[in-house]
Amino acid sequence: MKKGQTSIALSCWRLDKAGRTAVFASFESGTPCLVHFGATLPAQEDLSLLARLTLPNTAGGQLDPLTSLSLMPTAIEGWQGHPGLNLLGADGQSATPDLTLSEAVEKDASLTFMLSDRLDRVSLTLAIDLNDAGLLSLKATATPHAGSRIGWLCAGAVPVPDRLTRILDHGGRWTGEFQKQERGFATGQYVRESREGRTGHAHFPGATFLATDCSETSGECLGVSLAWSGGHRMIAEEIPDGRRQVQFGVADDSVRDQLVSSPTVCLAWSNDGLNGLSAAFHELGRRFSRSKLKDRAVPRPVHYNCWEAIYFRHSPEELKQIASRAAELGAERFVLDDGWFKGRNDDTTSLGDWSIDNNKFPDGLAPLIDHVQSLGMLFGIWFEPEMVNLDSDLARAHPDWLQGPDGQPAGRQQHVLDLSKSEVRNYLFDQISAILSDHAIDYIKWDHNRILTGGTPGQTVALYRLLERLEAAFPDVEIESCSSGGGRIDFGILNRTTRVWLSDSNDALERLRMQHEASRWIAPEIQGSHVGPRTCHTSGRVLPMAFRAWVAAQRHMGFEMDPRELTDDEAVTLKRVTAWFKGNRDFLFSARHHRLDSRDGEVHAEMFASAGDDGDDRFVLFHGQAGASGQIATRPYRLAGLRSEALYDIRLLNPQDLPRTLNQTVSSPFSKGESVRLSGAALMAGALRLPNAFPATMLVVEGQTVRPGVQT
Ligand code: DGJ
Repeated sequence: MKKGQTSIALSCWRLDKAGRTAVFASFESGTPCLVHFGATLPAQEDLSLLARLTLPNTAGGQLDPLTSLSLMPTAIEGWQGHPGLNLLGADGQSATPDLTLSEAVEKDASLTFMLSDRLDRVSLTLAIDLNDAGLLSLKATATPHAGSRIGWLCAGAVPVPDRLTRILDHGGRWTGEFQKQERGFATGQYVRESREGRTGHAHFPGATFLATDCSETSGECLGVSLAWSGGHRMIAEEIPDGRRQVQFGVADDSVRDQLVSSPTVCLAWSNDGLNGLSAAFHELGRRFSRSKLKDRAVPRPVHYNCWEAIYFRHSPEELKQIASRAAELGAERFVLDDGWFKGRNDDTTSLGDWSIDNNKFPDGLAPLIDHVQSLGMLFGIWFEPEMVNLDSDLARAHPDWLQGPDGQPAGRQQHVLDLSKSEVRNYLFDQISAILSDHAIDYIKWDHNRILTGGTPGQTVALYRLLERLEAAFPDVEIESCSSGGGRIDFGILNRTTRVWLSDSNDALERLRMQHEASRWIAPEIQGSHVGPRTCHTSGRVLPMAFRAWVAAQRHMGFEMDPRELTDDEAVTLKRVTAWFKGNRDFLFSARHHRLDSRDGEVHAEMFASAGDDGDDRFVLFHGQAGASGQIATRPYRLAGLRSEALYDIRLLNPQDLPRTLNQTVSSPFSKGESVRLSGAALMAGALRLPNAFPATMLVVEGQTVRPGVQT
């Protein structure tokens, strides 16, 4: 709009699906803006008025006029914050793109905007989609022209409404992933960046923006996550006039003279608290998994993974003994971890040489696999395809296949293969295919144990292509994403795998917190969780078997200890909880998951609730008591996701895990395992008070609606 002009040429579009409306507007044929993403708006809503109301007021000391934040903000629009696209002209100087909308294509609930630069230095496509889970996705593709080059390209700048004042995201580390951090918006940028060439333990690529009063179960929030497994950057910014944006894109310092595509950024909005966002992101992950798991006879079989039992000490006889014991305990899939391939006796050697170690397995893997299958278990195997040890036949034959600069440091004694070379991808495909074709293997644990030096987006794209090629060739083989635990967890990798190894920590106390936090984004069943050795190998803690088993049973359950170390009592407990997991996993992993607002920092409470046919509703509540509470009385919390008018029969499933000394004088019916009947309304109002529990206890409460005519 020119100074003094009173009417604005304006085009508006709206997408409606799943109780959400997204409105976009282009002022004067400029780059469209996201005007509204949230609750469904009435059909008669005046979209151009809504769009005009996003125009900020002008005042002294500013450019005039001020424009609304566009999906690809630039200085020429008057935007003083971080631009959405960095362009270098043919002269190598920074150039300001001057974008104009040349075409908008609307189809079902998707939009494609085509933009060109008035000086023809770049063209841009913005692809937008609103899906039936209420997720809005944005993706940008830019093509440089006439010698210009592209640096930063965000997937689409998202306005963060004023009322969403807080930012919640996650830091973390190896064995301590998903550490929650919170801050308020203030003038300036909050930048989160992974320069690791992978997602990173400390860098889940997502952030949530919350209203001051938003909790797990109520209030408004916006969740944004980049579906990308390489280096990534988030810029959340408040500019001095008070407006805010968030941009996500690939962290890449290079400038490119060819087409550049951003990964997709996914947005969810909720007025029902943070759980509302999680429901949309869980659905995204579940859809990815469902498309791969298809008609699996046993969904999410209980894993046994041998890593912390034997590390590199592979002997067929010992592995068979372990497998037999694991099967007795309830394992349904045996995963042979690192150590099975040629010369791999420690982590200094052999990555890249993916043939079976004849010294350890003189008759190959077949006898072990036959044994595992005779026990009724499936068989899975570990690979770390992207990596190579210098002490390997592969590195000796192809020193030029290494990724990154010469002289770079090793990480865990290993280097990275340059997957952008087709011969490297072909080699890996052939090596993995040979193992899969010759053996009854239905599962790969795909590991990635080092930070990249100078990792490029091409490496990530090449990984995706390799995974897709393997999936096409072996559609019945599932793949788990592991990267020293949770170093590669994001919706890019989840589109190509079915499970993530959340952390190398099998410490149930650490896991309780991590799993709870990870559930903001990742559906419970996609998170692998194992019962580890009695003395935890990464923390030295010794925790009760009941607690370790229940923490694993909240997610995709597995075992990773040497099962021969279990006492009889421990074995009985583990069998009991495993049997419960098997009987309930179909329910757990199709139910809606809710984190509960606990006012006790030592309690992590969450529940799974589902509405069945004919009012036949169920829930399972996990009350995880981490440490000793600050107060004597347990703090009741409100349950979520129930029908107010329904009556539920409720009982504590594991009263045997209560401390008798603390509760012997208490008249709580739960202490005695009795069933009580309460309405959904009462439960959601905070009526449930559980008995006191010792630290490192999981209380499990089951609820079931009362069928008409059934009396207690
Ligand atoms: C790191 C993984 O996170 C572990 O679970 C295990 O697979 C080791 N690598 C094997 O080297």
